Amino acid sequence: CFSSIKASLSSSSSTAIAEPEGIKINSIPTKPIEGQKTGTSGLRKKAKVFMQENYLANWIQALFNSLPPEDYKNGLLVLGGDGRYFNREAAQIIIKIAAGNGVGKVLVGKEGILSTPAVSAVIRNRKANGGFIMSASHNPGGPEYDWGIKFNYDSGQPAPESITDKIYGNTLSINEIKVADIPDVDLSRLGVTKYGNFSVEVVDPVSDYLELLESVFDFQLIRSLLSRSNFRFIFDAMHAVTGAYAKPIFVDKLGASLDSILNGVPLEDFGHGHPDPNLTYAKELVDIMYGENGPDFGAASDGDGDRNMILGQNFFVTPSDSVAIIAANAQEAIPYFHSGPKGLARSMPTSGALDCVAEKLNLPFFEVPTGWKFFGNLMDAGKLSICGEESFGTGSDHIREKDGIWAVLAWISIIAYRNKDKKLGEKLVSVCDVVKEHWATYGRNFFSRYDYEECESEGANKMIEYLRDLVSKSKPGEKYGSYTLQFADDFKYTDPVDGSVVSKQGVRFIFTDGSRIIYRLSGTGSAGATVRVYIEQFEPDVSKHDVDAQTALKPLIDLALSISKLKDFTGREKPTVIT
Ligand code: G6P
Ligand code: ZN
Repeated sequence: CFSSIKASLSSSSSTAIAEPEGIKINSIPTKPIEGQKTGTSGLRKKAKVFMQENYLANWIQALFNSLPPEDYKNGLLVLGGDGRYFNREAAQIIIKIAAGNGVGKVLVGKEGILSTPAVSAVIRNRKANGGFIMSASHNPGGPEYDWGIKFNYDSGQPAPESITDKIYGNTLSINEIKVADIPDVDLSRLGVTKYGNFSVEVVDPVSDYLELLESVFDFQLIRSLLSRSNFRFIFDAMHAVTGAYAKPIFVDKLGASLDSILNGVPLEDFGHGHPDPNLTYAKELVDIMYGENGPDFGAASDGDGDRNMILGQNFFVTPSDSVAIIAANAQEAIPYFHSGPKGLARSMPTSGALDCVAEKLNLPFFEVPTGWKFFGNLMDAGKLSICGEESFGTGSDHIREKDGIWAVLAWISIIAYRNKDKKLGEKLVSVCDVVKEHWATYGRNFFSRYDYEECESEGANKMIEYLRDLVSKSKPGEKYGSYTLQFADDFKYTDPVDGSVVSKQGVRFIFTDGSRIIYRLSGTGSAGATVRVYIEQFEPDVSKHDVDAQTALKPLIDLALSISKLKDFTGREKPTVIT
C-alpha cells in the first residue's frame, strides 16, 4: 500500500544508509494498475491519481523493468520538472527507486526544477543515459488538476513507442518495487550527496541550458535590439517553469528590463492558470499586445517551457507560420545555422507554409505524425535542423525537444537582424512586417484549429470511425461543395531512418487546390476525448492576405463540420478553443 511505500521511501531511520559499500534496497510487493499507457507525450493523469498507492512507483519501476540494464546500471539519469504540485514528493520517490535499481547517479534540478528543453540539454551535455521530466506540460496543475511523467533517452529525445509500449506491458505484470533505503534529498542546496555507490547532484536548472543557447544565438545581436528604447519586449512565463529562466536569460544576460517579465514566479498551481500559450489561455498577454499602444514583441511559454506563442503589436503569428519564417531567416540571423539548415520538418496537421520554404531553399523535407518524438531520429541521422508543429511547438536539433525560449530568441534574432543598421529613432521593422513580407514571397497558408475538449469518448471515437469509413469509400475527383478531392486517407508514417511504421495518425481530406481538413483525437488530454479539427487553405494572391483567417476559412470550416457530422456525434455546438 502507499503508506508502506511512502514510509519506506521517506525512511529517515538511522539504519543502513550511506554505507560505503552500498545502500540497503527494500523490495516492496505491488500489484498491477490499469490504465498506465502513455499518450502523445508521457503518462498524464490527475495528480490525485498519481498520489494513490503505488501509482507513480509502479510506473517508474516498470520503466526500469523495460530498459536494458546497460542503459541505467551505474549510469547517470537527469531529473527535473515544471514545479507543479506533487513534483517535490515525486522527485523523492523517483530518486529512491532509481537508486534501488542500481542507477549510479541522479542529477536533479534545484528545487526539482528543469524545463523540458533544459532536461534535453542537460542529458546531452552531461552524456547522461536519460532523464525524467515531471510535468503535464500545458495542463493545469494543483491538487485537483494534472500531473505527468515523461522519460527521455540518451540523445535527449522522448522515449520511442517501442519503449513506452514495453513500459505499459510491464505495468500490467509488475509485482515488486525496488526502493533504496535513503533519506529524502535536500533539493534546495546545490552539490553532490553520496549514499554508498549512489549519488545525487543538485544542479542549477539554468546554466547548462543557457550555455547551449549562447552557442546557438548571437547574444550581442539580441542585446542590441532589447536595449533599444523604441523596442518594447514582454515575456509571459504564465507562473510556470520558464519563470525560473526568464530573468537569468532575458534580463541578466540580454538586457531586457525586469518589468518585461510577466508572471515570472513558478507556482505549484500556475497561479490558478492554464499554462498554455495560445490566444485563449494566455489572455493577459494577448490583452496587453492588442491593447492601446501595446509592446512591439510579446511571447509566452507553457507549463514545462517547450511551447511558445509569438505576438507582435496587435498581431498573432500562427505556429505554422512561425516555423516557416524561422526556417527562411535562420541562416542569416542565427549563427548555429550559418551554413544553412540541413533539412526541415513539420507534423502532419501543421500548415504547408514550411513546405514552401523547403522547396525554395531546396532542402530535404519531412512530414511526421503529431508528437515531437518523431523528429528525433531525423535529427540524429543529420537530416533535420528546424521543425515545428501547429500546437505551438518550435525547435531545432540543438536539443531533442521543442524549445519555447529558443523560439523566442530565434524571433528576436530575426527582428534584430532586420533592424541592425537602423539608426536611433528610425522606425523598426516589426513582427507584422516580417510575416507579411514572408507571405508576399511564399504565399499565405490560412490555418485554424478547432478544439472540442473533454467530449464523451464514445461519440468522439464513433466520429473518427465514421470518418475512416468515409475515407475508405472516397474517390479522387469527388466534389465536396466547391472543393474537389485530391485524396483522403488516415495518415500513416514510415520513419525513413529506422523503418518503423505508425498508422491511424489523423484523417485527412486533401483537395486539389491544396486546401486540407484534418481530424484527430488528442493524445494529451487527461479526461474524456478532445477532438481536433485542422483547417488550411493556401492563398498566393497578396491582395487577399489581409483577410482575417476565420473569415477566409469559413467555407472550409463549415465543410469540415458537415463532412464529419461533428455536432451529431459530439453534441457540441461550438469549439472550446480556436487557434
Ligand atoms: C505535446 C506534444 C506535441 C503535440 C502536442 C499536441 O505538446 O509534445 O508534439 O503536438 O502535445 O498533441 P495532441 O495529441 O494533444 O494533439
Ligand atoms: Zn509543454
